[in-house]
Amino acid sequence: MTDVQTMQRPPAEVRYADELRRLRDTDSDPRPPGWALSLRAARRFIIGDERHGISRKFVGDPSLIDRALVSLATSRGLMLVGEPGTAKSLLSELLAAAVSGDSTLTIQGGAATTEDQIKYSWNYAMLVADGPSTRSLVPAPLLRGMAEGKVVRFEEITRCPLEVQDCLLSPLSDRVLAVPELTGPDAMVFATEGFNIIATANTRDRGVNEMSSALKRRFNFETVFPIADLATELSLVEAEASALLRRSGVTAAPHRDVLEVLVTTFRELRVGQTARGDSMDKLTSVMSTAEAVSVAHAVGLRGWFLRGEAGTAEDVVSCLAGTAAKDSTEDLAKLRRYLEQQARGRKGAAWKALYDARHVLPG
Ligand SMILES: Nc1ncnc2c1ncn2[C@@H]1O[C@H](COP(=O)(O)OP(=O)(O)OP(=O)(O)O)[C@@H](O)[C@H]1O
Ligand SMILES: [Mg+2]
Repeated sequence: MTDVQTMQRPPAEVRYADELRRLRDTDSDPRPPGWALSLRAARRFIIGDERHGISRKFVGDPSLIDRALVSLATSRGLMLVGEPGTAKSLLSELLAAAVSGDSTLTIQGGAATTEDQIKYSWNYAMLVADGPSTRSLVPAPLLRGMAEGKVVRFEEITRCPLEVQDCLLSPLSDRVLAVPELTGPDAMVFATEGFNIIATANTRDRGVNEMSSALKRRFNFETVFPIADLATELSLVEAEASALLRRSGVTAAPHRDVLEVLVTTFRELRVGQTARGDSMDKLTSVMSTAEAVSVAHAVGLRGWFLRGEAGTAEDVVSCLAGTAAKDSTEDLAKLRRYLEQQARGRKGAAWKALYDARHVLPG
């Protein structure tokens, strides 16, 4: 078992163990069968409740959280779709931690995902020695979630082959999983109360068209949108980046004006429009809030570990080259144009520094 202190990112139920305990202890509202918290307490866990010292973890429309929780209490799964980096995975983790107290029953979807990784596999040494039995069965997240009455997370489900995705059909509709290798009562695993599935899919990779209509019908779809306004996105990036920097041993807090320039740049390059309403080129790379947080982290690390100070606008330009341009020289050119034409002449020392650092871009 890894020590929590040295874990790079403990799961939500560990990070927020204290909040979850307090919510549980004071929760007198009705709970759906098999749930660790009531819907109302789960909602407060996710969107925060300042009066009771519960932090806000997901920024967005609270009615989305209500609909997501209600879906999880029904017999349909919950599908979170949206642009990359809009906190779909974070939200699914928080929902699982709130509903089941466990967000680790997770399947990561990909081109090579197999049914074994979703349902169950075998301990081959025991299988050869004793034949198939519950002892030689190695449960994967779906079987465990059904048996233990917990929420199972299926990340990036549309990246899996269609046939593999379809193994969720009978767990979702009949709430049963067949284990044909076993006989008698062990050959059927019936889901217990509390079991459900949260899947995520992003609209940039293979879309949700890459899903059978039979499976689609068994999910309620919810779209997670990017954060609408600058001030909200800026405070989120500031809070998240500050926490990441503290964990990385950086004691210089990020400068607000540098972060504001960074977040504004991300927002403008994301939509292809300046805050003043002028059109400009939008990047093909993803300029999500999640990316903005990771660039703000990198900017702080550069400043601290290279020079012993907080990150500057010049660090922002250095880090942007790796995020915004990635593999596209076209995006790099667009970024350069943005610095030359849009950053120029804007009010404030941080914008001036950003403009002055345009030569840091490679090429
Ligand atoms: N609305 C939001 N509320 C809270 N955090 C957010 C929000 N949007 C973005 N973030 C930031 O993004 C990070 C989460 O990104 P996450 O990986 O969950 O996104 P995703 O939608 O699953 O992306 P991908 O499509 O690439 O899988 C959070 O840790 C947080 O820093
Ligand atoms: Mg994700």
